[in-house]
Amino acid sequence: MFIDSHSHLDDDRFNEDRDILIKSLKENKVDIAINVGADLETSINSVKLADQYDNIYAVVGVHPHSASEVTEDTLNQFREMAKNKKVVAIGEIGLDFYYDNSPRDLQRKWFKEQLELAKELDLPVVIHSRDATKETFDTIKEAQDGGTLRGVMHCFSGSVEMAMEYIKLGFYISLAGPVTFKNSRVSREVAEAVPLDKLLIETDCPYLTPEPYRGKRNEPMYVKYVAGKIAEIKDISVEELAKATSTNTRELFGIK
Ligand code: NI
Repeated sequence: MFIDSHSHLDDDRFNEDRDILIKSLKENKVDIAINVGADLETSINSVKLADQYDNIYAVVGVHPHSASEVTEDTLNQFREMAKNKKVVAIGEIGLDFYYDNSPRDLQRKWFKEQLELAKELDLPVVIHSRDATKETFDTIKEAQDGGTLRGVMHCFSGSVEMAMEYIKLGFYISLAGPVTFKNSRVSREVAEAVPLDKLLIETDCPYLTPEPYRGKRNEPMYVKYVAGKIAEIKDISVEELAKATSTNTRELFGIK
């Protein structure tokens, strides 16, 4: 029924119960979880999970936090990994000027290089952006050039206007747990405004746990709370929302 379009099941917090959790996704109405890398090691681990389980697909890339660790060789390793049919995108990549864990110039350099890598490999991108709204958009727009770049704005936290600008570029908008939070007015406005055929849902687990489990470890099956809230906002059934977002996710990542 659901697809969790963004998870980190390789995270240490799943060490105790990863296998049983992944094997129980189906009975919890999650058909597929897309596991997203954030550096070389977690990208390798994502591919391992995808190789091990039919219901896991992998995304490989370096998060802006780890931009200072990237070398040309890292990109070559992603090129190799992308030969695996279960590697479906490059991500999560982008800019994070909130934490500034890596120098901004390096964030910019490797964000651009990984966008180019995605175009070279004809893969979509999974974008992380925090406190870097305009520059993230301008960078993507520039890379979009001929219109071959496609992707998703993961855990989108921007305005309705920004969401619509991304949709014009051919991008999808993905919403996560924050849409269920009481103080997340903007997220709800975005949920209402984004057309159903441009929307993805995700958990970003183990982070960003939705209500009513906020504060606990997040899991892919909690995507139903994200879906439930958005369906309520859009005044449609959860089934309709699940169907549309699953179709969109399969379309974007080329999953049959
Ligand atoms: Ni993430």
